[in-house]
Amino acid sequence: MPSHPPAPTGLLRRKVVTPEGHGHERLARTLSWPHLVALGVGAIVGTGILTLIGVGAGLAGPSVILSFAVAGLICAAAALCYAEMATMIPASGSAYTYSYVVLGEVIAWVIGWSLILEYSLVVSTVAVGWSGYASPLLQGAFGFPAALTQGPELGGVLNLPAVFIIAVVAGLLCLGTKESATLNAFLVGLKIVALAVFVAVALPYFNSANLEPFMPYGFPKQLSADGVERGVMAAAAIIFFAFYGFDAISTAAEETKNPGRDLAIGIVGSMLACVLIYMLVAVAAVGALSYQRFAGSAEPLALILRELGRPGVARFLALSAVVALPTVLLAFLFGQSRIFFTMARDGLLPPSLATVSRRGTPVRITLVTAVIVAIIAGLLPLGEIAALANAGTLAAFVAVAVCVLVMRSRAPDAPRSFRTPLAMVVAPAAVLGCLYLFWSLPSSTQFYFLLWNVAGLLVYFLYARPRAVAAA
Ligand code: ALA
Repeated sequence: MPSHPPAPTGLLRRKVVTPEGHGHERLARTLSWPHLVALGVGAIVGTGILTLIGVGAGLAGPSVILSFAVAGLICAAAALCYAEMATMIPASGSAYTYSYVVLGEVIAWVIGWSLILEYSLVVSTVAVGWSGYASPLLQGAFGFPAALTQGPELGGVLNLPAVFIIAVVAGLLCLGTKESATLNAFLVGLKIVALAVFVAVALPYFNSANLEPFMPYGFPKQLSADGVERGVMAAAAIIFFAFYGFDAISTAAEETKNPGRDLAIGIVGSMLACVLIYMLVAVAAVGALSYQRFAGSAEPLALILRELGRPGVARFLALSAVVALPTVLLAFLFGQSRIFFTMARDGLLPPSLATVSRRGTPVRITLVTAVIVAIIAGLLPLGEIAALANAGTLAAFVAVAVCVLVMRSRAPDAPRSFRTPLAMVVAPAAVLGCLYLFWSLPSSTQFYFLLWNVAGLLVYFLYARPRAVAAA
């Protein structure tokens, strides 16, 4: 990593990256690009396409197809920026570390704090989405009580299946990265097959009448009579959830054998594959059945198949979701523990959390994270958690695109094993697109995100800043 003195001090002091940790803080290098593509697709394809497609259709109508296209394009621009930064700075910590190296400590803190929000809430959201597909099976097969399959807001007591699945995935991660990533690769295949079967079965039922009127709530976010903010962009801001996950790959940088090549292939490859799959699924879903019939469902794709008179295929899809959705949990719980790990190693979070077990995994942080996300998943509703997760992610994406622009001007000749094509167009497009998506989120989400960061800055000034190991 190049560094050009004199570097700023104070709030904007910068980290000089040392890709290898020291002694007991070093992570084992066990991953190569097939693991990373699997980790990427495993992290991307999840509750977004399986469940939030229904929420999005309720917000945009048939034009949710456009919402997918808009969110996908913005994510693709951000993915290209991620690939450049991840290969330039192949160190644990993702957008947090890039911001620390390029933009300075206080910005890095805000991004790290946002990533903690993102990764925690993604794990919680996906666990709740998993429960949406698993609960009907549990109730049917074992007479599982409904009060224990959803949180208090929805009339239940505790979403026990969501808590259970987080415990299982946390256990896998504590056993070791490689074992988990290999199992992940197998489950990713199953998930792709299930979505391919959905498209193959639903597409022949395509009826253009289901697309009329195409854009019932308009394009930009606007308040409907029932107090809900709707439109293509309001849906895109939620559907955005379905596209990210490739950033979880960059958190595995220190565990990658050949980061320069493997990270670029992993990030860009998995992103492109998912954009293609989603567009097919969205067109098949909206074309096969009027969106109003699946908009509020906890398992919309299974519902569509049942409505088309294909209950056997619906059961296969639900079962595949139940078996394979944990790959998303795996990737984000993995990413979350690595963000914590990196921030703790930098002195910004308690260092006792950063110890690594004999297996090379940060067990303590994985367990702390798992307990927190399980509580959230057990008690809170899906849509709100997902929107707040998106806010944190958008902040990180903006920071990464800005990092690309700053480094192109500060160190234009530094070696980059992946260069964002048309960076002067793609990076600003990523920044503006993410800001537009953030603006399109529900106003309440924007407010909670602000609160989270005010709290974060208090922690920064009272705890983290005096203890930072920093910096350039
Ligand atoms: N993209 C991931 C999902 O859809 C977070 O579940």
